[in-house]
Amino acid sequence: MGFFIGGNMAILVNEAERIITLQTKTATYQMKADEWGTLWHTYYGTKTAEDDLSYACFMRTRGHTANPYETGMQHREYSLETIPQEVSAFGGGDFRTTALRVRFANGTETLRLKYESFEVRKGKYGLPGLPAAYDETGDAETLIIRLSDPEYPIAVELYYGVFAEADVITRAMRVVNQGDEPFYLEKAASLGLDFAHGDFDLITFPGRWAKERVPERLQLRHGMNSVGSLRGLSSAQENPSAILLDRAATETSGEAYGFAFVYSGDFLLEAERDTYNGIRLLVGIHPDHFEWKLEKNGSFTTPEAMMTYSDTGISGISLRFHRFINEHIIRGKWKTARRPVLINNWEGTYFRFTGEKLIEMARAAKKAGVELFVLDDGWFGKRDDDRSGLGDWTPNEAKLGCTLAELGDRIRETGLEFGLWFEPETISEDSDLYRAHPDWAVKVPGKAPDLSRYELLLDVSRTEVQDHLIAELSARIREGKLAYLKWDLNRSMTDRYTASLPADRQGEMTHRFMLGTYRIMEALRTEFPELLIEGCSSGGARFDAGMLCYTPQIWTSDDTDAIERLFIQYGTSMIYPVKTMGAHVSAVPNHQTGRSTSMKTRSTVAMSGTFGYELDPTKLEEEEIAEMRAEIDTFKALYDLLQNGDYYRLVPPTSDSCTVWEQAAKDGSRALVNVVYHAVRPCPLSEHFRVQGLKDEWNYRISLVDPADSEKLDNRQKALFDGSIASGLALRTVGLYAPVQSLFRGKSGVTDYPAFQILIEKTDR
Ligand code: DGJ
Repeated sequence: MGFFIGGNMAILVNEAERIITLQTKTATYQMKADEWGTLWHTYYGTKTAEDDLSYACFMRTRGHTANPYETGMQHREYSLETIPQEVSAFGGGDFRTTALRVRFANGTETLRLKYESFEVRKGKYGLPGLPAAYDETGDAETLIIRLSDPEYPIAVELYYGVFAEADVITRAMRVVNQGDEPFYLEKAASLGLDFAHGDFDLITFPGRWAKERVPERLQLRHGMNSVGSLRGLSSAQENPSAILLDRAATETSGEAYGFAFVYSGDFLLEAERDTYNGIRLLVGIHPDHFEWKLEKNGSFTTPEAMMTYSDTGISGISLRFHRFINEHIIRGKWKTARRPVLINNWEGTYFRFTGEKLIEMARAAKKAGVELFVLDDGWFGKRDDDRSGLGDWTPNEAKLGCTLAELGDRIRETGLEFGLWFEPETISEDSDLYRAHPDWAVKVPGKAPDLSRYELLLDVSRTEVQDHLIAELSARIREGKLAYLKWDLNRSMTDRYTASLPADRQGEMTHRFMLGTYRIMEALRTEFPELLIEGCSSGGARFDAGMLCYTPQIWTSDDTDAIERLFIQYGTSMIYPVKTMGAHVSAVPNHQTGRSTSMKTRSTVAMSGTFGYELDPTKLEEEEIAEMRAEIDTFKALYDLLQNGDYYRLVPPTSDSCTVWEQAAKDGSRALVNVVYHAVRPCPLSEHFRVQGLKDEWNYRISLVDPADSEKLDNRQKALFDGSIASGLALRTVGLYAPVQSLFRGKSGVTDYPAFQILIEKTDR
């Protein structure tokens, strides 16, 4: 049997047996084409040999199943309903949800895909016009599998990006019309994974505005278990990511599979448990409102999805995805450069500001060590509230008291860089742009459109609209010499229609809208490679791996309350790394919840995000500015650990009293443990945790980042957290108890949800 071996042995092909095995650092993924051309998915899990693993896919005659014609007379056991497949197609005897559905010119939707050939390429495939993982390290290889239907003119290519070291596999699909007549693509999932058996739970991330990504773990029931978005954006209501895990798996143990869609529009993530307890998982563009016409020789490429496997539970998924997103999704300068500590004026002023006020804020922020000033909504057109002005990206010089260029210069004179807010994909009816181009708004002819925050979407699926936005945004970036751009989107898509496409192509509009947004972002990235773009969508309503290819950080939530943020950042961290989560210290009482927490607590939480401020610093006392400065110094001193360390969730925010999480240096030399009390209890439970990511054989000194915090502790804890030494082994096995602030003793200020940062550093003692 002949083996064809890819460059770094990540892709192994047994040509005689038609078995293809993908080997990553800790996982094996295998497929096999049988004698009838069906491409089986034989295995994905703990690393194993390249043997033919199809023996594990049990087949027996099942009553009331369908058998393909060519196998039917001899093999009643051969049913597409029970075979785990690499790509499933609608219309034959596979009655599960399927990855691919087309409608041919004669109206049939029946499709039978058969394996044809494979190709291995060095490096990672690209997806023109779409966000995709990339490789600069030589880690990745590409596998392309070609399939076709024996009777109908369709070719299907499956793309696999195999990142051996990173332990991640990406997957996309391309469909080609090889006939003369057009056909319609009705569903094309990016990723499909079949498990012949398994007792799985599924973690998804439902949420809502100001409460995004709350992990929900449910036992897979028979039938469909699906989440998705039909909002035209990935949404706050569900996230295009999930973790499928063994029922017995926990945060730190057991088998788990992670999935994330590299796409920011409508999506559908389906997990079907069939009657034989097999599981099929699909991730792709939501098929509702989607239909793509493929003319002769036309092709459609799906966005990609990524998957990873862990035998160390949820934390293994997070670690792999965090590293992967940092290494292979985030591009350009901000992949490695330290991100600036910013101040955003939104919660400080909302729409009520003048140029002078902004300069005063920048001066005060500079005293605290802030590095970038971001001017949020309200600087352009007629925009003193949210009822008008969107689309008119002309600076309101009367309000600013100067031109944008002058404002930028004046901000920079204070010592801060300058950034600006935009909401490019939207338009207000009360705007010059709407008056000039009413047909550029997304709405159905003759129908009054739904408003949302009084606004409409701009039809970004149209090339002329994209060109207009590229020109407008580029001009403002140049005029203001912007170092940063916040890209917001504050509504979902309704009234889907584009004047640029005929009736039978309206189903392409939503995806074309997304492609348009990506095109604008890519143009800006290319022209302004230094520009830091922060994504935003009413907070975190478009927080996905697609956006992260263009916007290295995303505003995680409009809820800036530190305690609420513990929950939001906890859920988000299951898939996305610290470096991607926009997080700010805001004023107290908090504008969303009315809760007051200390500056230390707010800083501790925001530091495990991109760290910035969102308040009016001119209203702060001298001591508060000094405290801000101290926190910014701490952030800069611990930057590498906080932002690039391996992230571990040690105690969840659903526990009795405190949330604990950790960042550990990749070489195990030090770790930071963050403890924040999310509840005020007269008699809190002692939360216990085991420190991760250290070396068993090394010794570590345990200390508080802020020595003054030890005054809050009783004597025994004071001794422990004030320079005591423990081995990595003891810290991993016996662990620690979270520091507990001494009980409320009638003192004021002790019920402010205290925070502690514990530094654990290697020592030779
Ligand atoms: C929603 C964003 O999430 C906020 O941060 C702010 O930019 C407002 N939009 C401005 O309208």
